[in-house]
Amino acid sequence: MTLISQTRAQDRSDNGPILGDPAFRSDHNTRHAYVAGAMGKGIASEEWVIRLARAGILGFFGAGGLPINRIASAIRRIRAAIAPGQPFGINFLHNPLLPSQEDELTDLLLAEDVRSIEASAFIRVTPALVRYRLAGVHVAADGKLRAVNRVMAKLSRPEVARQFFAPPDPTIVAELLQAGRITQDEARLAEHIPLADDVCAEADSGGHTDRRVAFTLVPHFRRLRDEIAAQTGLSQRVRIGAAGGLGTPDAIAAAFMLGADFVLTGSINQCTPEAGISDTAKDMLAQADLADFDIAPAGDMFEIGAKVQVLKRGTLFPGRANRLYELYRSSAGLHDIPPTMIKEIEDRYLGRDLGAVWQETANFYAGNAPEQLAEAEANPRKKMAMIFRWYFIHSSRLAIDGRADQRANFQIHSGPAMGAANRWLKGSVLEDWRARHVDILADWLMTEASLLFADRLRTLMAWDNGDPVRQTEPVRRTSA
Ligand SMILES: Cc1cc2nc3c(=O)[nH]c(=O)nc-3n(C[C@H](O)[C@H](O)[C@H](O)COP(=O)(O)O)c2cc1C
Repeated sequence: MTLISQTRAQDRSDNGPILGDPAFRSDHNTRHAYVAGAMGKGIASEEWVIRLARAGILGFFGAGGLPINRIASAIRRIRAAIAPGQPFGINFLHNPLLPSQEDELTDLLLAEDVRSIEASAFIRVTPALVRYRLAGVHVAADGKLRAVNRVMAKLSRPEVARQFFAPPDPTIVAELLQAGRITQDEARLAEHIPLADDVCAEADSGGHTDRRVAFTLVPHFRRLRDEIAAQTGLSQRVRIGAAGGLGTPDAIAAAFMLGADFVLTGSINQCTPEAGISDTAKDMLAQADLADFDIAPAGDMFEIGAKVQVLKRGTLFPGRANRLYELYRSSAGLHDIPPTMIKEIEDRYLGRDLGAVWQETANFYAGNAPEQLAEAEANPRKKMAMIFRWYFIHSSRLAIDGRADQRANFQIHSGPAMGAANRWLKGSVLEDWRARHVDILADWLMTEASLLFADRLRTLMAWDNGDPVRQTEPVRRTSA
């Protein structure tokens, strides 16, 4: 008897197993153990979330970089367009520079009864996140503990992941109680739940990346989860997800084989009709091959050397962004940079003079973080970093708006999963990105991954039994 024929009937689709943890599907009310990860500045748009939710697939709205009133209107629009209980969530980005923004977001999420967040970019757990997690925790009629707000943490560092497998930090819980931000009951129950329900191990991905390797990260997170569960005695099993580089059925099948309870995709979902970025950018992404991506500095964490993975083909952004970072590292301030270089930056990168950029930047900081502005006025290096950071905001905006004459400066976050998906979909009805609806991509990936998974197991079992190996033809779809 093969492994496949031993799988329970309810865990099988027509031809292969239904991949992933069934509890993930029931807790999130989704059809697949699959998540479409957030893409900031509304690239993971309202339409994108709505389309996924209606198809029973979990997607997170790209709240990063958007003002709070824009996030509020997105939540209301999504809610109005979907049935109660259909899955959706909001991205909760850590903001070390402006912690008050995390608090504002928590207030909004609680006021709007948003039940699911994708917490990302965390380097340490914050009171705002703990407050979201603990709000409404109670003992239900069946005697079981219920956390009504679900947290999916997306992480690449084990030392940070530890904090999400464990209950919320008691010091933060005590402070929240003291400040009257959580109730006595919520504080008392805090030690019995993990901070996250789901922890997604993010290997090298499009966008911000620590360039980790899935083969090492996913198994390590699983072990860490078990270790911490043994130490804390928590009964809730935190599920482990895999993200980074997933753009084909083979990669998805491999992620489940590696031990993932669910998978999360990113890059491929940007090249879909629903994504909030220009058609010009989508045309460029649809042309990309496996090696058409590069690493550039991350604008939002420019000074600390954080990196993003971006599209290289058809744009000069990665080279220009890296040049700015080198100049930042080697110069004491703008006065240290040769005038010819300044002229090139003004003409080719920024499309305006440094004075105009500084004026705009200073106006922003005067309203949002005046202390940072004062620091920059006194520190030429910080001022240079702020001006250079403007380029990163500008170049993202150019790609989102589709300023075709400015294509050389397009900053498009993406990774090799996109190139792999283009190859996989070549010759199918989804070759044209206009047909690549974000929910259909998910369905195709999960169905074909399941077939591949079953086929791979059959092959391995046949080898084991000494039987001749039958290789199934790859599925070639001609209709959605
Ligand atoms: C255009 C783009 C924007 C992204 N923005 C965010 C974001 O704002 N917040 C976040 O948590 N992840 C963001 N990500 C990461 C994705 O949610 C996902 O984790 C990642 O893309 C998965 O790796 P892959 O691109 O290799 O599939 C972004 C990814 C892309 C491609």
